[in-house]
Amino acid sequence: MPTPDHLILRELLAADPSWVSGARLATKLGVSRVAVWQHMEKLRAAGFTFEAQRARGYRIAARPATPHAALIETQLKVRPRGFSLLVLDETDSTNDEAARQLGAGRSAPFAVIARRQTKGRGRLGRAWHSESNGNLYLSVAFRPRVAPERMGAFTLWMGLNVCELLANFAKVSPGLKWPNDILFDGRKAGGILTEARIDADEMRDLVFGLGLNINSPAEGWPSLLGGRAISLSEVTGTPLDFNRLAAALIGRILLAYTKFTDGDYTQTFADLWHRFDVLRGREIALLEGGRRHAGTVAGLDDEGALLLRDSRGRTQRYRAGEVTIEKTP
Ligand code: BTN
Repeated sequence: MPTPDHLILRELLAADPSWVSGARLATKLGVSRVAVWQHMEKLRAAGFTFEAQRARGYRIAARPATPHAALIETQLKVRPRGFSLLVLDETDSTNDEAARQLGAGRSAPFAVIARRQTKGRGRLGRAWHSESNGNLYLSVAFRPRVAPERMGAFTLWMGLNVCELLANFAKVSPGLKWPNDILFDGRKAGGILTEARIDADEMRDLVFGLGLNINSPAEGWPSLLGGRAISLSEVTGTPLDFNRLAAALIGRILLAYTKFTDGDYTQTFADLWHRFDVLRGREIALLEGGRRHAGTVAGLDDEGALLLRDSRGRTQRYRAGEVTIEKTP
């Protein structure tokens, strides 16, 4: 059910950069022009700037740089039945919040975005830097009817879809470093944490978590991350429209999930892997359970495991691990 915020934003975005008269907004909302003005004040307090002219009405001059639920929802091009979006000022981890919502019976798919996480988590028990700094902390929750053993390549497939979306949206050239890092020139701009709950060999639910550095300033990283992390705005040289990008990402994630669970993804996977994989033919070291394996990357198997050729020419497969690139070809 659209709220007055949704109706106002839908009209203003459809007309942008033109004007929408106060009378038209009043008719659409079924309220007086004074009530329209009061709603616009509420939107202003949430970070919008509107130009208002007596003869022409309203138009959008600036949009909030932080997550705004109605602005994201109004720009969503893909919206499965029952889909909902939760935007929070702060949470421990959007993955944990999504798991709590699933446990409480919220209908899936749904997405959770937080402006800030107090316990943002990465892979291998690491912390994910999650200040309120213009970056995206997003989890999308699903209840897949798919056997867990068919999910092996899921995180890679989703990462490839995120890379293609970013390439098109921001005219940039990201790379995907197996299994879950989104890179620009060797610096990390995003990471994925997929978590599934499995009961008696059946998948109960699945949370796809994406941390993406969108608009954080170059000088804002803690010293440990300085030089290793990068934001999209550093790559493009200009701030990105946070809510438009969040909407485009959620739409792409929902579509990619459907293609994956329908089994309709293998050819596109191969094409996208060819385009975005940064490890092909590279000499790497892979850390796995405290052990280090060195070798040349020889590709992927059907389950998304990394194939590594060692110095004796034997090929081993690894389902998980942390990769360091040893040499440039
Ligand atoms: C990694 O590269 O190790 C994965 C990082 C994943 C971070 C995201 S931010 C949104 C979601 N909530 C979390 O606590 N983690 C994921």
